[in-house]
Amino acid sequence: MVENLTVQLGDRSYVIRFAADLPHEIGVEVKRLTAAGRRCVVVTDTNVQAARPEMLKDTFPQVPLLAIEPGEETKSLAGLGRIYDFLAAQKLDRATMLFAVGGGVIGDLAGFAAATWLRGIEFCQVPTTLLAMVDSSVGGKTGINLRAGKNLVGAFHQPRGVFISTQVLTTLPPRQFAAGVAEVIKYGLLADEELFAQLDHRPLTVRSPELADVIRRCCALKAGIVEADERETAADGGRALLNLGHTFGHAIENAAGYGEYLHGEAVAIGLCAAARLSLKLGYVEPEAVARIERVIAAHALPTRLRTALGFQALEDAMARDKKVRAGGRRFVILKRLGEAATEANVPSKPVEETFREVGAY
Ligand code: GLY
Repeated sequence: MVENLTVQLGDRSYVIRFAADLPHEIGVEVKRLTAAGRRCVVVTDTNVQAARPEMLKDTFPQVPLLAIEPGEETKSLAGLGRIYDFLAAQKLDRATMLFAVGGGVIGDLAGFAAATWLRGIEFCQVPTTLLAMVDSSVGGKTGINLRAGKNLVGAFHQPRGVFISTQVLTTLPPRQFAAGVAEVIKYGLLADEELFAQLDHRPLTVRSPELADVIRRCCALKAGIVEADERETAADGGRALLNLGHTFGHAIENAAGYGEYLHGEAVAIGLCAAARLSLKLGYVEPEAVARIERVIAAHALPTRLRTALGFQALEDAMARDKKVRAGGRRFVILKRLGEAATEANVPSKPVEETFREVGAY
């Protein structure tokens, strides 16, 4: 059994529970809340509802539930409106606890609804994808996309708890599992060389006995980074390091059209791009880049774009990215395997060459 983990944020600290029996663990929490006179609601998506009807019924008996369409499109003003209408119809008060059961889209969207409904109610994350378990369910970033860009509206709103069970991953489509591994590889690259070596030695699968330990390890790395720089305000490094591969990745997602690449697939190509940029800036050797690409490919993830998108489209998408807008041309680069850093004022030429090498044009 994997040990629970606390994200230490003063009076907003919370526990990440690694549950063998998810319905039981959450059931205890729902009973405790109900006994204290508090109401609970669930927001999930129709994929989870179709794949795990029993789990939802056993975990949340008699708890009002909204299941919305899956996919990045839902993380929108319209999707948010659906949740507000649901919350309004339930006539909920500020003591309500919202359970967000799903992947990153549901966690971000329902988390933002919780952050803003009645000026803020508490919520718990119940991630059902690997990507949400190792990244988006921890750290309190919530928000929605606008046509103008990804995550442009949002709030830092820490959950009151996170419930993780690898059991729910057994029905996750292989492509979605692989997309989550991209974020696991990211943690290895940015802060845990041993984890990266382990992934190199033996690719992670949904049946790997070490899966729960690997997820905990990623959560512990993320917790440490969030504890030190919760609102990503550090001048160098800090929470921004979690964006390794994401500046390229977000540009790819945006230029290709959301849905063409899963977020994790775009991040996988973004990690290859970040490694190539680090090589061009003189930080890592060609062998390190080759090793990173080997590990990414071994996890059924792309190392190159499937079709060229054109440099200008990617450059424009990058300029629209709020992270780039806020920080100038700042990239997260690798100093070596297991250590990342932020690098300001990166010139255009190596970025352009990097995009060419990953098949952008
Ligand atoms: N997913 C990046 C962060 O939580 O900061």
